[in-house]
Amino acid sequence: MALINTACQLRILRICAGINFADATIFIAVASILATFDIDKPLDKDGNEAEPEAFYGPGLVSRPDGFKCIIRPRSSDKAKLIKTGTEELPW
Ligand code: HEM
Repeated sequence: MALINTACQLRILRICAGINFADATIFIAVASILATFDIDKPLDKDGNEAEPEAFYGPGLVSRPDGFKCIIRPRSSDKAKLIKTGTEELPW
């Protein structure tokens, strides 16, 4: 963040006009995922929890490469909520 602020002060970057909208959208997305899904480590062939390997791709916008994990609804109520949501908001 300090690097971005400096770049804005030096007029190298212009501050994003959607910064608050983007910040709120990401917060809502993360909060919604954490409220409805359990995210666990993958299981190895013996059924034990395995440590996923994390690698980051190169580039200006770096992100993790694909990795295995288990994502499932936190309860049957949450599963119903997710299903209803995807039917009502199909996009
Ligand atoms: C996670 C989402 C977003 C990221 C990471 C992001 C990032 C950025 C960055 C780095 C810039 C500066 C580019 C430069 O000066 O070279 C920028 C500019 C801008 N962004 Fe975003 N942005 C996001 C979402 C949004 C959204 C949702 C909107 C509109 C609703 C938006 C509207 C703009 C506009 C209009 C500018 C140009 C500002 C100007 O030149 O005065 N951005 N954004």
